[in-house]
Amino acid sequence: MKSVLNGKTVVLGITGGIAAYKTPELVRLLKKAGANVQVLLTDSAKQFVTPTALGTVSENPVLTDIFPKDVQGSWTVHIHLARKASVFLVAPATANTIAKLAHGLADNILTNIYLALPPTVPVIIAPAMDTDMFVHPATQANLEILRQRGHIILPPESGLLASGLTGIGRLPELTAIVDKVNEVVAGAKGDLSGKTILISAGPTREAIDPVRYISNYSSGKMGFALASAAQKRGATVQLISGPVHLSPPVGVDLISVESALDMQTEIENRFIKADVVIMAAAVADYRVKSVSDTKIKKESSAGFELELVKNPDILQTLGKKKKKQILIGFALETDNEIEHARQKLVSKNLDAIVLNKANEPGAGFEVDTNIIRILPATGGIIEFPKALKTELADRILDFCLTLSEKNHV
Ligand SMILES: Cc1cc2nc3c(=O)[nH]c(=O)nc-3n(C[C@H](O)[C@H](O)[C@H](O)COP(=O)(O)O)c2cc1C
Repeated sequence: MKSVLNGKTVVLGITGGIAAYKTPELVRLLKKAGANVQVLLTDSAKQFVTPTALGTVSENPVLTDIFPKDVQGSWTVHIHLARKASVFLVAPATANTIAKLAHGLADNILTNIYLALPPTVPVIIAPAMDTDMFVHPATQANLEILRQRGHIILPPESGLLASGLTGIGRLPELTAIVDKVNEVVAGAKGDLSGKTILISAGPTREAIDPVRYISNYSSGKMGFALASAAQKRGATVQLISGPVHLSPPVGVDLISVESALDMQTEIENRFIKADVVIMAAAVADYRVKSVSDTKIKKESSAGFELELVKNPDILQTLGKKKKKQILIGFALETDNEIEHARQKLVSKNLDAIVLNKANEPGAGFEVDTNIIRILPATGGIIEFPKALKTELADRILDFCLTLSEKNHV
């Protein structure tokens, strides 16, 4: 069978963890799968594995310095190498390098090349360290930053560690790392290239006065995961988001909005040029009829009434305007969910609706995982087990791709 790694360049960053001694074998396995392997070594990694061994198995010069002493005029080497990468793998990744990658430091060849990667290059990070280092809030927060950036974190395994202690922190089996590289390169085939995808995310805020608003619990995580996954698969992505606390996905055109009316304007302006539109935002159904220009004072009277008016139904408007676009809505229902979602699907002229489970742990707003079902307009229900929003984003995009192939969009 022809390997997907045939002719691909795997840029392998090796850092100063004890598991670095295993990396000549990792290089050998990647080469066996057909990859061209370009090794980068940190200074600490040289304590555990030699450039000579890695250069021999990779059949490529091993890069260890930002300023190589013997190669004149080669200071742009990191830019060229970053552009050649099909995938950037850091294995083993120390707590120190994870922190540097999370915060954008560029003090060695590995961190420089990481920063020079084009946004389409997938990044896989395989942390390996002592259990206390791994579970430390600083390491976990740094890993979360990298995860939010769309990188793949290969979870370390539990077992006997170099320290003699037992716990989580072991580098996964080398074959599991190679399998992941294969999977990622196969997925990074750019199957959405040439497509323009418009995605809405997050809540909207409906002002009451200059200091107060009505909103909801949407975190924007699902919409951001969709935007990041679509960008990695080669799409041109425009992400219209309400106020969220998430970093903008790399390579995505992010348009920040506040209210439902702002969101409507930004989406409608871009709708005509979109091939796929995914409305993952939790748009407020109502807004305050007259927003006060000044802060509303606390009156002595006991009650206070706000008059609300209906916001435009953005999905419905898009459903009416729709020509070639694939239009996907999201629904979060608390009762008769399938029936309500189907009504929404039909009344808004959608191609499919993604139904979120609201009442189960690990699903819905704020959390990183979700439980979804896709209801296509053509009938039936596609069920998915609980999974990370980042993984489900790819499954939703796979579904959009099959629709687009059927509709020749
Ligand atoms: C014997 C030894 C083993 C080490 N193993 C690890 C490890 O497995 N994981 C880790 O994060 N750090 C480990 N360290 C600490 C790193 O080498 C240290 O943080 C270093 O600054 C990492 O540099 P680098 O990230 O540039 O490679 C180890 C240190 C020593 C002395």
